[in-house]
Amino acid sequence: MADLTIRNVSVLDGTGSDPFQADVAVTDGRISAVATDGNVEPAPREIDGDGLTLAPGFIDTHAHDDGAFFRHPGMEFKLAQGVTTVVSGNCGFSAIPADPSQDSVAASGGILAGLMGEFTDLAGYYAAVLERQPAINNMMLVGHNTVRTIVMDMDRRSPTAAELSRMRDHVSLALEQGACGFSTGLIYRPGRWSDTDEVIELASAARDFDALYTTHMRNEGDRLLEAVDETLRIGKEAGVHAHISHHKSAGKANWGGVRDSLAKVDAAIAGGQRVTLDVYPYTAGSGRMVEYFNLDRISRDLAEVIRIASCPAFREYEGRMLVDIAAEEKIDVTEAVRKILTAEKGDRTICIHFIIDEADIETNLAHDDMMVGSDGIPDLRGKPHPRLFGTFPRVLGRYVRERGILKLGEAVRRMTALSAETFGLIDRGQVREGYWADLVLFDPESIIDGASYDEPQTEPEGIRLVVVNGSVAYERPAADQPGVHTGTGTGRMLRYRSSAYGEN
Ligand code: ZN
Ligand code: CU
Repeated sequence: MADLTIRNVSVLDGTGSDPFQADVAVTDGRISAVATDGNVEPAPREIDGDGLTLAPGFIDTHAHDDGAFFRHPGMEFKLAQGVTTVVSGNCGFSAIPADPSQDSVAASGGILAGLMGEFTDLAGYYAAVLERQPAINNMMLVGHNTVRTIVMDMDRRSPTAAELSRMRDHVSLALEQGACGFSTGLIYRPGRWSDTDEVIELASAARDFDALYTTHMRNEGDRLLEAVDETLRIGKEAGVHAHISHHKSAGKANWGGVRDSLAKVDAAIAGGQRVTLDVYPYTAGSGRMVEYFNLDRISRDLAEVIRIASCPAFREYEGRMLVDIAAEEKIDVTEAVRKILTAEKGDRTICIHFIIDEADIETNLAHDDMMVGSDGIPDLRGKPHPRLFGTFPRVLGRYVRERGILKLGEAVRRMTALSAETFGLIDRGQVREGYWADLVLFDPESIIDGASYDEPQTEPEGIRLVVVNGSVAYERPAADQPGVHTGTGTGRMLRYRSSAYGEN
């Protein structure tokens, strides 16, 4: 007897092939049957899928959930979107390595907020997360900014040979313990003080594991193409698969630039290099405000498109555009920037900046090697960027159904099988016998994000059921009733191309 069956569904198996009618059975956490003849074993729990679409659980290739697994182990903002696995440790900031005597959250500017436990390495971090019974699976990258801070603090210089080799040891240890790659955030401190050779040396540690190099590139605006060249050079010289995070061409003067950038990527792929990318489906970015401004020369253009997400120094600014705050206080918008950033804890301000062209999002989503990553920053105290709650349903509702930019099966492939293969998630990302039962049941006719900039903490529409490692983690009894997070806590901590942490 199976543990669970989901009958009468249209299966999109993740490979991009056409949907087919089937009944699916789940036994011991894995998919035990995908039957097209109606012949599945009975089970104590049988769900009628009403002809809706059953797909592999979505994989968020770009997450900053390292600390959220402690603060919000129910991971409601991801689960309600149909996300069953996240890849954390992006943009050069990762929970590991850690020195319990140092404040690792400070180095990340709060992006990793929530970390708890006395861990120093990936194995310790995974053990500490599992104690909280997380709702979804996690895969980790080891971050350059974190590693550099541990070895060199915030020194604005190149590492000595000894420091470089200590950094490399940290990266290698994380990879040995199952991290899927090495991430950089080269616009951020201290990554921006590293030269290309330093990054190549550290990324080459990933070569021994055939693991990834993922990057928030040094520039995403007027020097985007140079940054892509640097990324491709790092991938080539380090001998690793390069993955470009949240691909965009930022700033109005640069809109349209993703075409040239993708042409460079295509040429590299045609030349035999392994390169992939991810994107979030919004015209605004979000991050730590202090990283985007030089206080000696505050950019008015940027200040005018900024909205405050969370701001420990001035909670009353959260959810408001900087221009409105400045008008009300009768100060210049650049002065408003200074006021926030020079306040106590001002460097922990997270902002949202409207810098991306809608047409560029569509160009990105039309590319075959483009995965979907939310880049959500899981700080729920203010008004976070709505991508934290809405990314996956927004792609399927707005860009697939309404705009027709890509087909449903292809969008699902780039949220599941392609991501699982790229990030080394063994036996995941497909609806297939023997695979882990990470599943999402949704209505392609009604799926849509509910989160907006004004009301970002809103769960999406159209997700009916989410299963994580064989257990029902989220379900919505009817479209007009709220979703229920069951608290089953069956998420696992994944290791690159290997079994999960704690399993053989
Ligand atoms: Zn980033
Ligand atoms: Cu990021």
